[in-house]
Amino acid sequence: MSVLTLTVDGLEVAVPDGASLLEAVRAAGAELPTLCHLEGLTPVGACRLCLVELEDGGRLLPACTTAAAEGMAVRTDTAQLRGYRRMAVELFFAEGNHVCAFCVASGSCELQALAVAVGMDHSRFPYQYPPRRVDASHPRFVIDHHRCILCTRCVRVCDEVEGAHVWDVAQRGAQCSIIAGFDQPWGEVEACTSCGKCVDVCPTGAIFHKDDTTTEKQVHPPRPQLLRRAREQQLGRHPCP
Ligand code: SF4
Ligand code: SF4
Ligand code: FES
Repeated sequence: MSVLTLTVDGLEVAVPDGASLLEAVRAAGAELPTLCHLEGLTPVGACRLCLVELEDGGRLLPACTTAAAEGMAVRTDTAQLRGYRRMAVELFFAEGNHVCAFCVASGSCELQALAVAVGMDHSRFPYQYPPRRVDASHPRFVIDHHRCILCTRCVRVCDEVEGAHVWDVAQRGAQCSIIAGFDQPWGEVEACTSCGKCVDVCPTGAIFHKDDTTTEKQVHPPRPQLLRRAREQQLGRHPCP
């Protein structure tokens, strides 16, 4: 396998051909926030938190969906990038209804952790307070759309790892939302195996177990990744560790 050499914040790093810029950044030991990205799922570049800056011209690129290229030179920590990251997090809070004090995921929420990491104490954007649905029709789980940030991790894990394809994204703009089946109550979608993978990967309190109350949601994002790796090993597509 051929190897690519590039620089990340001035540090030279070598990665296998085909690696993403995110993998190169992480190989260089740099920290890069991600929200829609989850190892083991197809990257979609939806949240824009992983933006990096090309040294040559200052163009911004999402690291998770950009392939690393020979000779590339990127910066991961500039004033402009820090500004964009903070703005992206503030917009997530303004667009939904994230009342952490009453959230099942408070304390284990990736959005909340990012708000702390970027130093956000309020949003500069007007809060929209959108009226959204809460669907508790599933016997074991609930989806509260007020806290959905449309990262599509649930859509991808259900399709790509569980193979059930219960979730989809419907509509555009402010009306955009995750739907179950043909926009049915989740509990009526026969394809759902109740495996709980969507609960495990949801980065906020949008999907949770019915018996969870404030701060009780325990996420387990590595579980779907481990399952996918085990399947690939079975199929001979992944070397055994
Ligand atoms: S519980 Fe499993 S099958 Fe049902 S929607 Fe979630 S990931 Fe898909
Ligand atoms: S329900 Fe959770 S995992 Fe699914 S898109 Fe919304 S925030 Fe992401
Ligand atoms: S993590 Fe790259 S765009 Fe979301």
